[in-house]
Amino acid sequence: MSVKPLRTAIVGTGNIAGIHASSLQQIARETGGVELVAAADTDPARVAEFAAAHSLTGYESVHALLAAEQVDLVHVCTPPGSHTPITLAVLEAGGHVVLEKPATLTLAEFDRLVAAEQATGRHVATISQHRFGSGIRRLRGLLESGAAGRPLLALCDTVWYRDQAYYDVVWRGRWDTEGGGPTMGHGIHQIDTMLCVLGAWTSVSAVARQQARAVDTEDVSLAHVTFENGAVASVVNSVVSPREESYLRFDFEFATVEVRHLYGYGDDDWTVTAAPGHEERVMAAWDRGPTRVRSEHIAQFREIATALHEGVAPPVTTTDARRTLQLAAGIYASAFTRRPVEAAELGADSPHYELMQGNGPVW
Ligand SMILES: NC(=O)c1ccc[n+]([C@@H]2O[C@H](COP(=O)([O-])OP(=O)(O)OC[C@H]3O[C@@H](n4cnc5c(N)ncnc54)[C@H](O)[C@@H]3O)[C@@H](O)[C@H]2O)c1
Repeated sequence: MSVKPLRTAIVGTGNIAGIHASSLQQIARETGGVELVAAADTDPARVAEFAAAHSLTGYESVHALLAAEQVDLVHVCTPPGSHTPITLAVLEAGGHVVLEKPATLTLAEFDRLVAAEQATGRHVATISQHRFGSGIRRLRGLLESGAAGRPLLALCDTVWYRDQAYYDVVWRGRWDTEGGGPTMGHGIHQIDTMLCVLGAWTSVSAVARQQARAVDTEDVSLAHVTFENGAVASVVNSVVSPREESYLRFDFEFATVEVRHLYGYGDDDWTVTAAPGHEERVMAAWDRGPTRVRSEHIAQFREIATALHEGVAPPVTTTDARRTLQLAAGIYASAFTRRPVEAAELGADSPHYELMQGNGPVW
């Protein structure tokens, strides 16, 4: 790539930041399109260690970093409660943002980012790495080809296991710092992937429960979702399931497409079953799709860098990410009001717009 590299920084140097750093440094070697230059964390020991490990300049706040460095792009890898103020600071300083999931704690916060994006002309891309593996691209190609017919039914399961010690980390399991339980923190991966196939949702009926963990939020949620295109889906989000799995299943008129994995899929994790009489057309359309891209952060980062160099909005855009956050809000709204909720009800006058839990959880 002959263009100037995007000067990039990482804010929040905990668990996930290592994947961001190594992926960005790999892209720098591959194309020269990015250059990782700095990192910031409010924990001085953590940022010092991270900066030394990745040969970066370390800072103890995003503000110190922005005052000292000219950066084009900042990856926000802090806990969800700090995503909004950090993102606003970066946008106002003229940088683009790559934001870890869940993008914000609430729809109200999210709309502040959209307004800032519009005011500054900078972009916010939300991490959703499972939209970028070749399998999901093949599935979308199959759907667009018409060979699979209409989407009818989907299953979207994130049944994971997190023991009580996982919640010793101070920001986890709390509405005010994580925004919710497995619906927001874990299932959001599969929910977002499902939505990138099925599009706009219209209504949801849900249950949220505290089954086993001592947390403020739910540890299990279940939902039935209806889509604008007429499809319906069952969504299960859990952190109490010893046999862990991420499972997505799409039943179209003429084909079932499934993926089973845990934290990332490859091509071998997908299966396609054609309805009798449709084998040839379905398999031909499936085989035309791309292959060999795992659903990892680096796959999304490559596309973000390309989009920013081309001057267009990088994926996953705020329009895409908002739909996912809105479904999480819908799940909580339905669970805690104990009635079906329409997407259109979740405007600024809804209690679930300002707080995911609305007027408070009802268990
Ligand atoms: N996409 C994925 O697969 C994936 C996986 C794990 C975590 N995540 C997300 O990544 C984010 C971080 O998760 P983690 O597990 O790395 O958390 P972590 O607790 O391990 O690390 C967060 C770091 O941010 C720092 N920090 C907190 N507030 C800060 C602030 N205001 N300014 C600067 N630094 C600050 C902390 O000191 C800590 O070092 C969360 O949003 C989480 O949901 C995404």
